[in-house]
Amino acid sequence: MEKKWWHKKTAYQIYPKSFYDSNGDGIGDLRGIVEKLDYLKELGIGILWLSPVYASPCADQGYDIKDYYDIDPRFGTMEDMDLLLAEAKKRDMAVLMDLVVNHCSDEHQWFKKACQDPDGEYGKFFYFQEKRDKKLPCNWRSYFGGPVWEPVEGTDKYYLHVFHKKQPDLNWENPKLRQEIYKMINWWLKKGVAGFRIDAIINIKKPDTFKDYPADREDGLCDMGQVLAHAHGIGEFLGEMKRETFEIWDALTIGEVFHVEEAQLREFVGEGGYFSSMFDFRETLEGKSVLGWYDCQIPTPDAYKRCCFESQRIMEDVGYLSNIIENHDEPRGVSHYLPSYGQNERGKKLLAAMYFMLKGLPFIYQGQELGMENKVFSSIEEIDDISTKEEYRRCLEVGYDKDQALKAAGHYSRDNARTPFQWSDEPNGGFTKGEPWLGINDNYRRINAREQMGRDDSVWAFYRQLIALREHATYGDTVVYGRTEPVLEEERNIMAYFRRGEGQDILVIGNFDEEPKMVTIAGIKEQGQVLLNNCGSVDMDGGRIRLESCQAVVIGYGKKY
Ligand code: GLC
Ligand code: CA
Repeated sequence: MEKKWWHKKTAYQIYPKSFYDSNGDGIGDLRGIVEKLDYLKELGIGILWLSPVYASPCADQGYDIKDYYDIDPRFGTMEDMDLLLAEAKKRDMAVLMDLVVNHCSDEHQWFKKACQDPDGEYGKFFYFQEKRDKKLPCNWRSYFGGPVWEPVEGTDKYYLHVFHKKQPDLNWENPKLRQEIYKMINWWLKKGVAGFRIDAIINIKKPDTFKDYPADREDGLCDMGQVLAHAHGIGEFLGEMKRETFEIWDALTIGEVFHVEEAQLREFVGEGGYFSSMFDFRETLEGKSVLGWYDCQIPTPDAYKRCCFESQRIMEDVGYLSNIIENHDEPRGVSHYLPSYGQNERGKKLLAAMYFMLKGLPFIYQGQELGMENKVFSSIEEIDDISTKEEYRRCLEVGYDKDQALKAAGHYSRDNARTPFQWSDEPNGGFTKGEPWLGINDNYRRINAREQMGRDDSVWAFYRQLIALREHATYGDTVVYGRTEPVLEEERNIMAYFRRGEGQDILVIGNFDEEPKMVTIAGIKEQGQVLLNNCGSVDMDGGRIRLESCQAVVIGYGKKY
């Protein structure tokens, strides 16, 4: 594999609205990020991904863009953005913007013009269709519920939106639209962003015709996953976008790619692929259901490990994955993947070590480094997220009472990850001097950055060690490039793998069980060098290792062992 500057880095996702509020209006902002760059540097972060800060009505928290060339006043100004780029550069940090080009906002000029003149130039920037036999053009269900079609006021036409109705889909079949997008991407790259995280990109190619597919719920609609399986030829768009933009600047691009066929992976993220990397969502998708959140199953540790290993196996000779345990769309990883007895600092470090040591670029979502947890919502009124509101409605529709509905939708709510960052035990966790736009998690007095940074055995300190291992004098190369080789795959609640490097190996092993476990790793005779351990000392004799409940260790072995 050709080595790239970013392989050995650690990336960090900032959700600007909830990171740090510099002016007391209750909303996190760009100046707030600038103020916290030293915090991120101290942690060891090399790449920042900013969720959208473009001008937006914020129907979907900035993922509905009304002007790609402007910053939303909630977040600051273009001068603030320039300041952030300059300050990040001083600290040798690369900044990735969020590239949201499957759709824009219904308040974007393009859409306004399109509605005024549906048959004109801008009408072709979107998908406008008429009813057929008094029926909507097709029965696709939007990701946020309900049909994908919405009337264009004052006409007999409907526009397509696979997400919220305030997010009309852009018509990628139109070369003029594509050129507008490339122009915008180049504008940002010229400004000095290192690249992009690319939002919902798999949706830009629709099936050739708007036709019905078998309904998967009583509403007669079908899931977009089913629809996208019938869309072919996305590669033409992605290849063109790469040639006309990313390639020119050698940009770093991470695709939000759900559902791509294994046979296509090389084309996406192999040598010369459309993107530098893509997120591994296999664990995220595990247990999910087309019926809605009420029907989802929380993955067991063994299911989690199976997913990780499957992705590692598939990607080993293909490209460099991006690994996560959470993001702004998912529950907090520690509340989702850890069994109840592991919902503590030891368990949080176990999960951290297990995903972080996999081959790929690790992403940390803000607050994850503190072990921030899901919030316990006491009423649906506390929730802002459009997707949670729809899923809550869905729970009631299938017969749940309000408490059950809140519990089911609450676990998966995107707002779990969107509550303000917990900086200290001051009011509102030190996030704002005003009223936070979204209620903070009550546990901020116990879980906060100030407390953890002052303690050697905190989750924060553990993440810092994990990050530092990527540049370890002896083992760094193996951490970054070593082949992943699972061991003891059949051992219940044990997740163990080697990273095989040149003349050295690293063993990563963790015990997700409630009880201590004794395991034997075949072929190991020597004592290795303990690189990381989340719990007391390591009880080992060559390949025989005893692990406490939720203990994780990382051990390096030299040439002969
Ligand atoms: C992506 C984003 C999500 C957003 C959606 C529509 O999945 O991560 O937050 O709602 O795209 O832009
Ligand atoms: Ca603010």
